[in-house]
Amino acid sequence: MVSSFVAALLILLIARQAAGYPCTPARRADCPKPPGGLALQQVPQFVTVTWDDAVTSQSYGIVQQILGGLRRRNGCPIPSTYFVTAQDTVPAAVQALYLSGNEIATHTLTHVKYPSAQEIVGCRDWLVNATGIPRQRINGFRTPFLLHNATTRRALAAAGFLYDSSLPDSAPSAISPSVRQRAFPYRMDAGIPQTCETGSCSASERWPLWEVPLWAAADAAGRPIASMDPAGDAFEIYKRELGWRLGGNRAPLGLFLHAGAESAPERVAQLRKFVQYAAAQQDVWFVTNQQLLAWMAQPVPASTVAAQLGCKPPADIAAGVKACAAFVSDCNFGSWDGRKCRCVCMGEGAPGGFCRSRMGECSLSC
Ligand SMILES: *[C@@H]1O[C@H](CO)[C@@H](O)[C@H](O)[C@H]1NC(C)=O
Ligand SMILES: *[C@@H]1O[C@H](CO)[C@@H](O)[C@H](O)[C@H]1NC(C)=O
Repeated sequence: MVSSFVAALLILLIARQAAGYPCTPARRADCPKPPGGLALQQVPQFVTVTWDDAVTSQSYGIVQQILGGLRRRNGCPIPSTYFVTAQDTVPAAVQALYLSGNEIATHTLTHVKYPSAQEIVGCRDWLVNATGIPRQRINGFRTPFLLHNATTRRALAAAGFLYDSSLPDSAPSAISPSVRQRAFPYRMDAGIPQTCETGSCSASERWPLWEVPLWAAADAAGRPIASMDPAGDAFEIYKRELGWRLGGNRAPLGLFLHAGAESAPERVAQLRKFVQYAAAQQDVWFVTNQQLLAWMAQPVPASTVAAQLGCKPPADIAAGVKACAAFVSDCNFGSWDGRKCRCVCMGEGAPGGFCRSRMGECSLSC
């Protein structure tokens, strides 16, 4: 009797979920519909910014140039999601990112195509061990070179991941009929509705995972440019994308980036200009992928979404792991000391030696 009650409850829950996230291979036309039956003007316009590959001093510094000091309307720093490759990553930089409200996700140990479970789960294990970030907080994945197959998703599901974000989507597509009507993130429980542009996938695969598609950016004529690091003026490209969404179905916008590809000064300036522009638009919210999916699961209207997007920074680094709340990417004339959580400068304290500036960098005049 108890078990039939539980079974009934389960069926009810699954039915509710199916009603909440209708995008399936059988109902592709529903993929551009906002969840929860929200009216369009009630849908918050989310923007997610993601960075792939190792978090190094250099990549950390480039992202700081683009996003440093910029805030959402509720005062939190503009957050990003980092798909981290373990190889070459500096743990202190990852800790500082996590502690300032960014999401840490995995991108394999060594950046291989069609990664094994060991490459995927090993990266999460490495991050947990090296940074002390709780395992359950690291639950997103993007595959290197966007090359994936059912084996990749089996590994994610078996390891309890929340979501994948590896499937590009260039409108028009099976799930996004136009640049103004793009698909929202969807669940893979009832199959994969996308036609995979990279790697391989099939409509009959079923996984207890979300997918956050990589919506490709398009040119002024609506022709796809690229899903990552699109060439051209980044301000103009993303402003146009945002305009299409605000005048369309308000599907999330993604800035899918590699710090190494965005380091040119004009590119840094274009991206920073876009983030400042977008953050000032009504109902536009920069979120991590985890925050985006939390809203998909519990879609509240734009008028009350601020409460769901609190800014309380996490404080759950494992006891016994040294955590630095801040990281200085440019320790020129010195080196980063993870125990002291600061640059140690050449000749520090000695006459004629380097000293630390207000920004924590090494300088001859402080
Ligand atoms: C875990 O981290 C410690 C300290 O950083 C390191 O000495 C050890 O080798 C790591 N273990 C694994 C399995 O990575
Ligand atoms: C996925 O790709 C890997 C590497 O090429 C291969 O070993 C594996 O069999 C593939 N899985 C499927 C389901 O095709």
